[in-house]
Amino acid sequence: MRVFQGLACEFLNHAAVWEAPVLASGVPRKPAPLMAKLRTVFVCSSCGNESPRWQGQCPSCAEWNTLSAYHPPAASRRSGIERPALADAAPRGLAEIVSEDAPRLPTGLGEFDRVLGGGLVTGSVALIGGEPGIGKSTLLLQAGAALASATPVLYATGEESVRQVGLRAQRLGIAGAPLKLLAETSVEQVLAQAAAASARVLVIDSIQTMTAESVESAAGSVAQLRESAARLVGYAKRTGTAVLLIGHVTKEGVIAGPRVLEHMVDCVLYFESDSGSRYRVIRAVKNRFGAANEIGVFAMGEQGLKEVRNPSAIFLSRHEEPVAGSVVTVAREGTRQMLIEVQALVDPSHATNPRRVAVGLEGNRVAMLLAVLHRHAGVALHGHDVFVNVVGGVRLGETAADLPVLASALSSLEGKALAQDLVCFGEVGLAGEIRPVPFGEERLREAAKHGFRRAVVPRANLPRAGIEGMDVIGVGRLVEAVGALR
Ligand code: TYD
Ligand code: MG
Repeated sequence: MRVFQGLACEFLNHAAVWEAPVLASGVPRKPAPLMAKLRTVFVCSSCGNESPRWQGQCPSCAEWNTLSAYHPPAASRRSGIERPALADAAPRGLAEIVSEDAPRLPTGLGEFDRVLGGGLVTGSVALIGGEPGIGKSTLLLQAGAALASATPVLYATGEESVRQVGLRAQRLGIAGAPLKLLAETSVEQVLAQAAAASARVLVIDSIQTMTAESVESAAGSVAQLRESAARLVGYAKRTGTAVLLIGHVTKEGVIAGPRVLEHMVDCVLYFESDSGSRYRVIRAVKNRFGAANEIGVFAMGEQGLKEVRNPSAIFLSRHEEPVAGSVVTVAREGTRQMLIEVQALVDPSHATNPRRVAVGLEGNRVAMLLAVLHRHAGVALHGHDVFVNVVGGVRLGETAADLPVLASALSSLEGKALAQDLVCFGEVGLAGEIRPVPFGEERLREAAKHGFRRAVVPRANLPRAGIEGMDVIGVGRLVEAVGALR
């Protein structure tokens, strides 16, 4: 009986890798009963979408040749039997849970705490993405060293040797920190060591170098990323360890297999930088414990990353003399106001189709604004090339940048510089109306703090009590704005 059972299982295992044969009539032959079919899904490396069969093009994101086979390992299959017990699996009252305070660990870097929503939450998983060499390892080594003075921290590196990390720590002046280092790429080993060291914070540098034993594909593949991250997330939730994952971004600027990882973790932070600039901006793209879109600003120096506590004017370069085609606006990034210069160059065009180039702004929106300027303020630019640029490599996605775009274009067209102590912001509607933007008063206060004395803003954004030392002009229509700016 035993032998027979064994043979039957053997047969079924072989049969499982076969597709169900199809009869000539096109009707699939009924599969053998109790066939233990090995589940295979095809995962897109670009968007993380799962398809039941291989296709040349991903049905979700339409990318080509991004699907690869993935066999979910037995332990993570949804059988319901093997699912590990969660620490708080039993249902509990909401009030009871809310009354417990979520312990947060300060990372020693105020700006990093800020993007995390006020420090590192225990039991949470954060993914820190960025291009190679931008400073991910540096940041987490610094934060790890600071955290280590209060709580056990394990820094697992699959990229560099322990010696290399040690040398970097020496350079950063944090070699004395009681931080534990481990050069390892096996997730199982890392988790075993983390448990042995009772680590409360675990840094993984990087998730692309980690491999889970049950998955056969190479490190960095979607299957490995998914499984390694799933193990780390499970461990974080079970033990209350805060896990920080470093993830490299591909040339398209996304973490490889982005959706796969982004769904699994609690926070997704991206490093941004203008090439050649020493400033590094970390942006929270997703945060279950704080505001999304919050930014933290650092400067990379000889001694690693230093936080920039008052970054609102770092992208602002004051011109010696007022120049035509330049205006300062106040953008809102997360919960903070940033002063940013918008420049335009408007020049007579000799081409049949004049050029419209927007850098740091959406091109279609700029074209739309120029049409509004023509229709509602009588300023025609169809014989001119228009170039608009946001200084400092910053991207402005807000509609508050509408009015500054038109103000700079007008100033360039007329060759008349705007006052140097002037700021403006506001959304421009297709009917030529100037619409209010959120946080008008906060924007004006920030500008006043940096010495701006005049502002042209949407009428609905006029502060009731005024802003000390600032002359604020509220405008309701584009013609009024043009009048106020001229
Ligand atoms: P790193 O943290 O290794 O980047 P990542 O882990 O994102 O790949 O950062 C390396 C870069 O930072 C490298 O170009 C050198 C620079 N750097 C400094 O300028 N100052 C420093 O103190 C350190 C440690 C690095
Ligand atoms: Mg690194």
